[in-house]
Amino acid sequence: VSAGPVIPHDTPPAPARRTALPRARGPVSGILLEVVRCAPGMPVELPLVEATPALLADDDVQLALYLCYELHYGELAGVDDAWEWDPGLLAFRAVLERAFEGALRQAVPPAHAPPPPEVVPTALQALVAADDAPPLSRYVERRATREQVRELLVHRSAYQLKEADPHSWAIARLSGPPKAALVEVQADEYGGGRAERIHATLFAKAMAAVALDPRYGSYLERLPGVTLATVNLMSLLGLHRRHRGAIVGHLAAFELTSSLPNRRYANGLRRLGFGADATDFFDEHVTADAVHEQVAAWDLAGGLAHAEPQLGDDILWGAAALLQLEARWARRLLDAWERGESSLLAPRATSR
Ligand SMILES: [Fe+2]
Ligand SMILES: [Fe+2]
Repeated sequence: VSAGPVIPHDTPPAPARRTALPRARGPVSGILLEVVRCAPGMPVELPLVEATPALLADDDVQLALYLCYELHYGELAGVDDAWEWDPGLLAFRAVLERAFEGALRQAVPPAHAPPPPEVVPTALQALVAADDAPPLSRYVERRATREQVRELLVHRSAYQLKEADPHSWAIARLSGPPKAALVEVQADEYGGGRAERIHATLFAKAMAAVALDPRYGSYLERLPGVTLATVNLMSLLGLHRRHRGAIVGHLAAFELTSSLPNRRYANGLRRLGFGADATDFFDEHVTADAVHEQVAAWDLAGGLAHAEPQLGDDILWGAAALLQLEARWARRLLDAWERGESSLLAPRATSR
């Protein structure tokens, strides 16, 4: 007779995903933050948002979109959960999504025709190889201060504390070989059956080890639009079935650009005297993602291109969109640090 799972005494309960509502940053987040404090069903004013490249780093709009998506991942403190599927709020979100996608397609023009399925994996590798993103990981490895490394973790916390979740939306939308490949990667991201090895949990451990608050959502107030856009991209691609090619390409490019930078981040943390609790997350990705990049490029992206050849250009576009937003984000950090400033929003920033 099975005694059931043994839960060690020192395993803390999984913390709730509850994000405190931040302050509004402008008219668009202002509409959202006002309405979600009311009962669902309240009419939601539709904002005017233009699809311009500046939108990709707009503090106000990216915060509003981030909060719309957050209703699918966790609780917003004081907000009725029924807002998640409120038609008025979904219409509001659709306005932001159309503008965001329009801005992305201006920055990263889509290809005119899908590539042959068999070239998709090598085309992904070529995209990544040709990427000339600012050398953030090199800077962290060699020069960053302890405060700058802590900022890096604050920026990354918006995604890393829910790591893998946006790509998991796509599991239900795939079948056959690409579905099996995606689940293989995600199983590792979720710890392979060991809760303490869930990558989001390893990231929380790293935050605590560098004296940051590891609770979900605790730094939202400090995150600029350029950072929130990197997470909004994943939520946009993951939540819409028509973007299943792009979210697969996004994950493949994410894995292809992970192993080496994470080695450098770990080296930077060790250089600064941080211990194993701080570096575990990064060391884990050096080895895990050396495998994931193969599975994601060949079995997942290549497998989807074979199953649905018309998605080949979407797969490459999702990868290129990731590289584009990551480069803009890295540039913001390096530029701020070059000036001797913080790359985060000021603690009491309330407007653009
Ligand atoms: Fe991971
Ligand atoms: Fe991975």
